[in-house]
Amino acid sequence: MSTTTRGRAERRPSITDVAKRAGVSVGTVSNVLNRPDQVSDATRDRVLVAIEELQFVRNASARQLRAGTIQTVGAIVLDIANPFFTEVARGVEDRLAADEYTLMLSSSDEDPEREARYLRLFEEHGVQGVMVTPSAGSLDTLLALRDRGIDVVLLDTTSPVDDISSVAVDDVRGGALAIEHLVSLGHTRIAFINGPLTIKQCQDRREGVLSALADAGLEPAEALVEITIGSLNADGGEAGINELFALPGDRPTALFCVNDLTALGALRALRAHGVAIPGEMAVVGYDDVVFASMLTVPLTSVRQPTHQLGWTAADLLLRQRSEGASFLHQRVQFQPELVVRGSSDPSA
Ligand code: RIB
Repeated sequence: MSTTTRGRAERRPSITDVAKRAGVSVGTVSNVLNRPDQVSDATRDRVLVAIEELQFVRNASARQLRAGTIQTVGAIVLDIANPFFTEVARGVEDRLAADEYTLMLSSSDEDPEREARYLRLFEEHGVQGVMVTPSAGSLDTLLALRDRGIDVVLLDTTSPVDDISSVAVDDVRGGALAIEHLVSLGHTRIAFINGPLTIKQCQDRREGVLSALADAGLEPAEALVEITIGSLNADGGEAGINELFALPGDRPTALFCVNDLTALGALRALRAHGVAIPGEMAVVGYDDVVFASMLTVPLTSVRQPTHQLGWTAADLLLRQRSEGASFLHQRVQFQPELVVRGSSDPSA
């Protein structure tokens, strides 16, 4: 049983309270806070004692808002519960902090309406810029935001237009790397648990999968079993495996998952089905998030340079803000890297 106590809604002490307690004007308190050299020692000490007694904390956002110097960037990713995005967000935060910007982070859940609501909230909060992993159909909203003076950079997807910058990984190459690896191990029947093709990253990874199968002379109709899941997370991966195991025909000997979180759920379901990894099912994920190497059977994964992705996107946004009309928009694309571990290659 939990007990609750009603919080006391006390008013925060104001600068006026401090002035009254110290017996000075509000302007004198402001001088003590901002221009202490313009105040006598005795007066400054009286004010500092009053601040301490009242536990007064100045409201920086009100001060910065009045001075028009508040510096905040809003970021909307697909799902902040996915460690890929929190690792990317850390890169964003590290770059923004160098210029004393703060970060507001939220999830779209791949829902354009939810994303639009957050974009409106960010604009109401007066953010200077936004970084977005766009859900389907949100480009017009982002272009309109940009036209209202809020800088925009796309994250984790390549910009479809020349006048919005983006930072992403070559997901077509990433999908091909996963399949090339599995084919090199002798697998000729591969399951692919992917997200909805309305998500550009899922589209591109599938293009890479098909390209690698063609290069290996394998027909998708025989070599590929595609499972599409609604959410790119562990529950989605578990559901994907249960759907795969309900299908007729020869079970694939290998599995490629659209991201590591999905692969985590797939591994949980494979264990529940008593499937040996990699002996009965070789598994490859995507992102190489921090937990991939820590699993009982460490996960082979297509690595994305997560911190660098975020840092570069934030740097582009800040340069866009400082260079203004002279800024040349860029589509920065990093190359993925296959990290081979025990979930696909027993010798790893
Ligand atoms: O953005 C779609 C997916 O790409 C995310 O789930 C993330 O894992 C990245 O790999």
